[in-house]
Amino acid sequence: MYNDKVLDHFDNPRNLGIMENPDAVGTGGDPNCGDYVELFLKIEDNIITDVKYQVNGCPGAIATTSVYSELIKGKHLEDAAEITDVDILEALDNGLPEEKMHCSYLGGKALHAALINYILN
Ligand code: FES
Ligand code: FES
Repeated sequence: MYNDKVLDHFDNPRNLGIMENPDAVGTGGDPNCGDYVELFLKIEDNIITDVKYQVNGCPGAIATTSVYSELIKGKHLEDAAEITDVDILEALDNGLPEEKMHCSYLGGKALHAALINYILN
């Protein structure tokens, strides 16, 4: 039900881990399935210079957060904030089944929460 690219990110999640002294932290969850992502960012001159995350969830949540971390790393905050779930699914060659599409929202929710915390701090 998952394609090889999704399985690769699930088996070997990129940028997985906890960050010491992050500049911003945000969480995103799905109340229906209970999955959630906690995202840690290093930010310099409005560029995301490093990304780490913890994820509690299904293979879809792990793979989409992994590829999302690659997509936002090195990006300007505004550009990162504009990445959509469609971009994430495309980056995984659309290898998620229909019932797992919502998994791709978690990283984005966490990023938007982190950016709000960052701006308010
Ligand atoms: Fe969300 Fe699998 S963990 S349903
Ligand atoms: Fe809900 Fe994966 S099943 S995020």
